[in-house]
Amino acid sequence: MKSASLVLDSNFEIGIVDKRLFGSFVEHMGRCVYGGIFEPHHPSADALGFREDVKKLVRELGPTIIRYPGGNFVSGYNWKDGIGPREIRKRKLSLAWAATESNEVGTDEFCHWAQQVGAEPLLTVNLGTGTPIEASELVEYCNHTSATYWSDLRIKNGYTAPHKVRSWCLGNEMDGPWQIGQKTANEYAIIAREAAKLMKMVDPTIELVACGSSSPNMPNYPSWEAVVLEECYDFIEYISMHTYYDNPGGTPEDLLSRSVIMEQYIREVTATCDYVAAKKRRKRKINLSFDEWNVWFSRKDTVASPLFAEKRWLESPSLVEGKSNLLDALLVGMTLINLIRNADRVKIACLSELVNVLGPIMTEVNGRAWCNSIYYPFLQAAKWASGGCSLQPIMHAPCHSTKYADDVPITEAAAVLHENGQLVLFLVNRDLKEEVNLTVKMNGFGPFRCVRKEVLTNNDYLVTNDAQESPLVPRLIIDKSFCSDVSTFVLQPLSWNVVVLESLNNLDTEQICYAGTS
Ligand code: AHR
Repeated sequence: MKSASLVLDSNFEIGIVDKRLFGSFVEHMGRCVYGGIFEPHHPSADALGFREDVKKLVRELGPTIIRYPGGNFVSGYNWKDGIGPREIRKRKLSLAWAATESNEVGTDEFCHWAQQVGAEPLLTVNLGTGTPIEASELVEYCNHTSATYWSDLRIKNGYTAPHKVRSWCLGNEMDGPWQIGQKTANEYAIIAREAAKLMKMVDPTIELVACGSSSPNMPNYPSWEAVVLEECYDFIEYISMHTYYDNPGGTPEDLLSRSVIMEQYIREVTATCDYVAAKKRRKRKINLSFDEWNVWFSRKDTVASPLFAEKRWLESPSLVEGKSNLLDALLVGMTLINLIRNADRVKIACLSELVNVLGPIMTEVNGRAWCNSIYYPFLQAAKWASGGCSLQPIMHAPCHSTKYADDVPITEAAAVLHENGQLVLFLVNRDLKEEVNLTVKMNGFGPFRCVRKEVLTNNDYLVTNDAQESPLVPRLIIDKSFCSDVSTFVLQPLSWNVVVLESLNNLDTEQICYAGTS
């Protein structure tokens, strides 16, 4: 057994965990929309054609904000094609994914669906082929109450109340050669500034995300961020970050170390924001929107392949669908830990994507909906971390090196203190074989009792869930233990652990009974 130690102090406050840290992403790509959230001939379809079984799983997962409609898709999309009577909507080519877009689902249907699943929309405007005026017209269509052409058109289309979309992305991955309407940093900065200006003229209450680099591996990173921030600083609230963790030819240890790089990426973009703030003598900070992140599953049943002739121009070809294993779930868990640990600057984050495309939720055509392994750490973090105060965990653990990072600790932790005195620990043991004896020293909290422990692990790290079986579901462990200043937790090899501690001062009788401590 290995040993590690963790120090927590009630005064080491990082910041409040914004509930929008637990967001996701629905793109018109593959079977995310068509055949995913929307399947009008499915037995569970509602009046608009959305699957109720999928809605139920989305509600349980708990994403608080959902980005839409892209992604690369948005850079060739005209939002006006997706409103009004469905029977006269235009069928068009979706150039980004070489698919046929029926436009059966558009802004109104998505905003309505998002409300039904309890999430706010994060709409992306097209700054690839689109213009600032089209972006501002979309804000007017969604948010203006009435008595203008666009707001009255929304009302005529059946949506009397405005959608009240608070958060908006100014385009998508505009530095990428794959992007329709790719731009240089200067070109993008100017169109983003003008779109932001017009959008806020329509509705000054909205918040805007400017595009950062598509990934930290892009050749212009992070000077792209600096150029965009210099031009747009006074018009935006966030800059975006995107990352997908793959591991071609690497070991499980290599894959699991990729979360270490993510934290460095967050530090670098934060530093770039603060550099521009200093240069411009601004007190207001620009925060981060990590609005695309996920593990690129090792077990992919289909890949993004619009170049394969037989898939071109299909309506909903299956793209990047796969089954996530235990390693994928642990890496998703460690990514969530990173987001929580950087809650002072990362305010929005979106697991990409929500259904089928690398999704936590998978669907069968005309059949079942089921949950990939990555569904569970996300659900638990959204449930137990939202709205609490993230505390700085000081971890001392044995480290190893991988092809991606040096000094990779075997254990990772995030800690969230809630107003009701509840302290929630998110803990990962990265070690493939050995248990870790984790000693937790808690300063300044008073006594706690453990009321809930949930563990996700398996002897076989390649095992996956599917529509029939779910070997990767967290196990609930009833643990009656009392936590004083120093407590010990044993973390199983390759495990994701959520530990909920209640301050003894706040425990009511019912909770004491649940904990078996009458
Ligand atoms: O999520 C799939 C694609 O990955 C998105 O469309 C794009 O933004 C990113 O490159």
